[in-house]
Amino acid sequence: MDRFVINGGIPLEGVLEVSGSKNAALPVAVAAGILGTTDSRIHGVPDLKDIETLCGVLEHLGVRTSYHDGSLSIGASDSLGIEAPYDLVRKMRASIYVLGPLLARFGQARVSFPGGCAFGPRPVDLHLRGMEALGATVRVEHGFIIAEAGRLRGAEMSLMGPHGTSVGATANVLMAAVLAEGTSTIHDAAAEPEIVDLADFLNAMGARITGAGTNTLVVEGVPSLKGVEYTIIPDRIEAGTFLLAGAITRGDIRVRGARRQHLSSVLGKLTEADVWLDWDGKDCRVTVPNGIRSVDVSTETYPGFPTDMQAQFMGLMCLAQGTSRITENIYIERFMHVPELQRMGAQIALDDNAALVSGVRSLSGAPVMASDLRAGVVLVLAALAAQGETVVSRVYHIDRGYERIEHKLSSVGADIRRVAD
Ligand code: EPU
Repeated sequence: MDRFVINGGIPLEGVLEVSGSKNAALPVAVAAGILGTTDSRIHGVPDLKDIETLCGVLEHLGVRTSYHDGSLSIGASDSLGIEAPYDLVRKMRASIYVLGPLLARFGQARVSFPGGCAFGPRPVDLHLRGMEALGATVRVEHGFIIAEAGRLRGAEMSLMGPHGTSVGATANVLMAAVLAEGTSTIHDAAAEPEIVDLADFLNAMGARITGAGTNTLVVEGVPSLKGVEYTIIPDRIEAGTFLLAGAITRGDIRVRGARRQHLSSVLGKLTEADVWLDWDGKDCRVTVPNGIRSVDVSTETYPGFPTDMQAQFMGLMCLAQGTSRITENIYIERFMHVPELQRMGAQIALDDNAALVSGVRSLSGAPVMASDLRAGVVLVLAALAAQGETVVSRVYHIDRGYERIEHKLSSVGADIRRVAD
C-alpha cells in the first residue's frame, strides 16, 4: 500500500490541468459496452483505478476493452454474460450500472448486491424500483440482485429518495429505458452534469432522451443503439479540489479545462470565503490576497454544493478566520476525514449531520490515513498547507479518483512523493 509523504507550507504556483470526469466515464463506458451494437471509442477517460475496475467488470461480461492515453475502445458484442460477481462489485459499487443495460438488451441480469461503504449505508432500492417500473421482476437471492424481463416497457415513475434525487439510480434506469418499448417519464431524476453527459452519449448512439439537466427525463424507447466516438466532460470535482489546493496554500494557481457552469456553487462559496477567482478562457486563476473567511456550507444535489466537495471545503475552513458550519445532507455519516484532520490540529466538533469548524492559524503535519476518496484527498490538501511533514497512508483510495495527483501537484511546486511500502 503506497503512502504520500508531503512537506507543507509551499504556496502552489502554475497550471493544473483537469482530467475527464470519472463519474461520467463510468456509466458511459457501461452504456457503450452493453448497449452498443457496434464499437465505441471514448476520449478523455481518466487513467484511474476505478476505470480499470470497471473495464474488469465489462471484460468479465465478455466486452473487449482497450485503454490507451485517455482513449477507451470498447468492442460491441451480440451476446454477453449477464453476471457481475461479488469480487468485482465489492471493489466498486458503480458496477451496479450493468444492471439496467443488461436487462434492457438481454432480458436478464445478476448483479452482486453492493455492501455498505466507508461513509455509511448506500442502498440501491431506487435502482430496483426503477427496473420494476419498467416491467422487470426483481428478487434478491444468495447475495445477488436477479432481474428478468421480456422487452422492457416504457413507464412513468419517480426516483425520489430520502435524501433527494439519485445519480446512480437515474443513470441505471436511463440505460434501461432507452431500449424499452414506448415512452418513459422519469420524475425526480438527478440533474447532475454526469447524467447530462450520459444522456448526450446515449442520444449520440441513437437514443431519444429529452430533459437531461432537469428533474424530468422523457425517453422514447428505440430498438437498438450503435457505437459512437465521444469525449467525456471535465471532472468538476477534480477541478474544485485543485481550486482548493490553490486557496489552502495561498498560492497562485490556474486550473485549466474546467467548465465554469458545472462549478457554480463551489465558485460561489469560494468567493464568499474571499478566495479570488478570475476566469480567462479555459483557465480559472485562484489567489487569496486577504485572509480566508469562514462560510457555512450545506451539501445538496446539483446545482447545490456537491457532497463530493464537502471534505475538501472543510479542509479550507480549518484554516479560515471564524467558525463555519458544514452540513452534509446527502450522506449524513460522511465525516471520516474529521478525526484525521483533528490529528493535524484542526478544531472540529460534530453535531449530528453537521461539523462546526473553528479556524486555526496553522495545521501541523502528522501521520494520517485515507479512508475513502474524498476523505483522503482532503488530507493531501491539509498536508500541503500544514507545517512539517505529513504521511498519508492508504492512498489507493485517492488513486481511485485522482489521476496522477502527485505528479500534477509536484508540477506546481508541491513537495509530495509516493512511497511504496
Ligand atoms: N439512495 C437511496 N437509494 C438508492 C440510491 C441512492 O436511498 O437506491 C440515496 C443515497 O444513500 C444517498 C442519495 O440517495 O443518500 C444520493 O445517492 P446517489 O445515488 O446520488 O449516489 P451514487 O450514485 O451512489 C454518485 C457518485 C458519488 C457521489 C454521489 C452523490 C458515482 C460513481 N458516484 O454516487 O461519488 O457522492 O453520486 O453526488 O457517480 C465519489 O466520486 O467520491 C463519490 C462517492
